[in-house]
Amino acid sequence: MRKDKIAIIGLGYVGLPLARLFATKYSVVGFDINSDRISELMSGVDSTLEVDNETLQSVLIGEGSDQIGLFCTNQLDEIKDCNYYIITVPTPVDKNNRPILTPLIKASETVGSVLKKGDIVIYESTVYPGCTEEDCVPVLEKISGLKFNEDFYAGYSPERINPGDKEHTVEKILKVTSGSTPEVGEKVNDLYRSVITAGTHLAPTIKVAEASKVIENSQRDINIAFVNELAKIFNLMDINTNDVLEAAGTKWNFLPFKPGLVGGHCIGVDPYYLAQKAQEFGYNPEIILAGRRINDSMGEYVASEVIKLMIKKDIRIKKASVLVLGITFKENCPDVRNTKVIDVVSSLKEYGLDITIYDPWANSDEVLHEYNLKSIKSLPKQKFDAIVLTVAHNEFKDLDLESLSNLKSVVYDVKNFLPNNKKDMGL
Ligand SMILES: NC(=O)c1ccc[n+]([C@@H]2O[C@H](COP(=O)([O-])OP(=O)(O)OC[C@H]3O[C@@H](n4cnc5c(N)ncnc54)[C@H](O)[C@@H]3O)[C@@H](O)[C@H]2O)c1
Repeated sequence: MRKDKIAIIGLGYVGLPLARLFATKYSVVGFDINSDRISELMSGVDSTLEVDNETLQSVLIGEGSDQIGLFCTNQLDEIKDCNYYIITVPTPVDKNNRPILTPLIKASETVGSVLKKGDIVIYESTVYPGCTEEDCVPVLEKISGLKFNEDFYAGYSPERINPGDKEHTVEKILKVTSGSTPEVGEKVNDLYRSVITAGTHLAPTIKVAEASKVIENSQRDINIAFVNELAKIFNLMDINTNDVLEAAGTKWNFLPFKPGLVGGHCIGVDPYYLAQKAQEFGYNPEIILAGRRINDSMGEYVASEVIKLMIKKDIRIKKASVLVLGITFKENCPDVRNTKVIDVVSSLKEYGLDITIYDPWANSDEVLHEYNLKSIKSLPKQKFDAIVLTVAHNEFKDLDLESLSNLKSVVYDVKNFLPNNKKDMGL
């Protein structure tokens, strides 16, 4: 019997940690279309910081090997002899918030071109229910000429990692699995169970597994939208939202959500996948889309609150200097994709303020390339009219804000990260 050999298609935040984990027990080939990414990984460096260099280097092996370990490539030939193909490519939305399936379809074409009898293709990308079997499998069938559930099989196992979180790493998060037949479901489940120490949950169908993931993120989005709405209401009433949440949180079943900017490529994006599918079925999802609207409005809201505080303190608005602390979409992580700090910055710019963005984690070239904004990695020697803490990076905990402030500066804390005596206001 042939030994299992796994190809992971897409070596980003999700694909690389998974490839590294499987490579401790299987022969794994990591495939990505980005040749720069392949070069950095084969030199033992992960710029996403999800896998530390030592851990990555400990599993790397040379090409063409069937040994246990990880080889990364952009050459199709190298994945031809795999029997499991796991697809972990992006699932973004367009400017009208409609799902973009292009990377999934392209990756399915890639896999379809090397697919053989008996192979299993597992999707991990976050999608709407039905996407694997209705959108991806037909591509696999068309390109390979093979028949689904006779010649080859599919599975879906959503990823639940949280970028930057060094505690809940891939092997420590219980994983939902599924397969296109009951037997394949068991096989997919066994494959993951062999490396995921937290265990697995075998869902009855692929659609159930797909739906389970998209609702996890939609639920978070809606819960955050609720506390964001509360923050707006309590601000009008001059009540500190954080104090209210702390008091309410003493009840055993009160959910501990905090107000904030909802960025990134998961929580702020995935609900649109569910919403689109619901609309195709003739249902207009009101709560899901209301949550999205509220969360997307928070950047502009924060900016307007900062301006109000500055006016109250008689700070001249035009050309006032503002220090924005953090540009990544979340704390202690270099990921700047779909960061909602951009909304705060753009709104403040509309008022004519001069913005300095300081982020020790973000790659300045990436910020310039993605957003045409300058972000600096060391603290400026300057005093500012306003300081807006937008991301709770650990480095900001002990910042000497006084040395960065003018006599009547404003300090606004989006994350409620700073002690009350160090800020004028928080969200
Ligand atoms: N990042 C997270 O925390 C997270 C968590 C859970 C689920 N997800 C989901 O996992 C999926 C992947 O997200 P990610 O954050 O890892 O994305 P990413 O952008 O970090 O990585 C995707 C990788 O896929 C590569 N790629 C794109 N098209 C390809 C193709 N046709 N063939 C081969 N490689 C290709 C890209 O070059 C990139 O390296 C998405 O559906 C996302 O919603 C992400």
